[in-house]
Amino acid sequence: MADYDSIAQSFQQTCAFPFRWHSEAYTYLNLIGPVQGLSILDLACGDGIYSRHFKSQGAARVVGVDISAAMIDLARSQQPDLEIEYYVADVAHLEKIANFDLVVASYLLNHAADACTLGQMARAIAENLKPGGKFISVNNHLEQDPASYDRCLTYNYRKQADLPLEDGRPIHLTFYLPDGSNFTITDYYLSQATYEQAFAQAGFQSLEWCYPQVSAAGIEEFGQDYWQDFLRYPPIILLKCQL
Ligand SMILES: C[S@@+](CC[C@H](N)C(=O)[O-])C[C@H]1O[C@@H](n2cnc3c(N)ncnc32)[C@H](O)[C@@H]1O
Repeated sequence: MADYDSIAQSFQQTCAFPFRWHSEAYTYLNLIGPVQGLSILDLACGDGIYSRHFKSQGAARVVGVDISAAMIDLARSQQPDLEIEYYVADVAHLEKIANFDLVVASYLLNHAADACTLGQMARAIAENLKPGGKFISVNNHLEQDPASYDRCLTYNYRKQADLPLEDGRPIHLTFYLPDGSNFTITDYYLSQATYEQAFAQAGFQSLEWCYPQVSAAGIEEFGQDYWQDFLRYPPIILLKCQL
């Protein structure tokens, strides 16, 4: 059973957290840009939240892949009329599906526990991109200073790690849901240098790290002060890579 099988429904509830919509999705979708007519591979698609967005915005073909059968069941149960293709698979062992215009992944790479697994994921991404294609991702900000981890509590979760951070160290994220329940997932620290090496070795020409921003609607709804720590100590980060 994949780790997310038992928490699929709970994880889905995090989509209502203000940071996920007003910062994560806002920055991620801006970086991705217009998707009309594109073929898109959404890795670690979860319940398909972004897959559905791409297809409803006119993407020609959207394929979602996730290691958790429960997550894929949730994805398949929503808006089946969109005709998104979903597969259960481990991205580290993913075979070529097609030459996509764009490969995306929200919170996949932070599950790689070592450089070898990250390298396998980077190669699978490269193999599924057309020449010159782009990979865009949002990730746990693994280089966030642990001294600022407590700031995440404002944004409905707790980050904890055994220090010092070094490649392979687990980082635990506990999410607090509106119904009073909580659940914990585990990511792994790998340095930005390890990421850059994995993507260079997989054939990517460039890798750019981008910090999250907040939408005007988010500032209007929650106020500038609410977002101050999120922007000063970003708990998430984005990557833009080009073959
Ligand atoms: C934090 S959730 C994010 C889900 C979705 N992308 C979103 O943004 O809502 C991480 C997802 O990564 C999936 N995952 C973890 N390791 C994976 C792997 N090796 N291959 C494919 N999916 C994986 C989990 O099953 C889970 O659905």
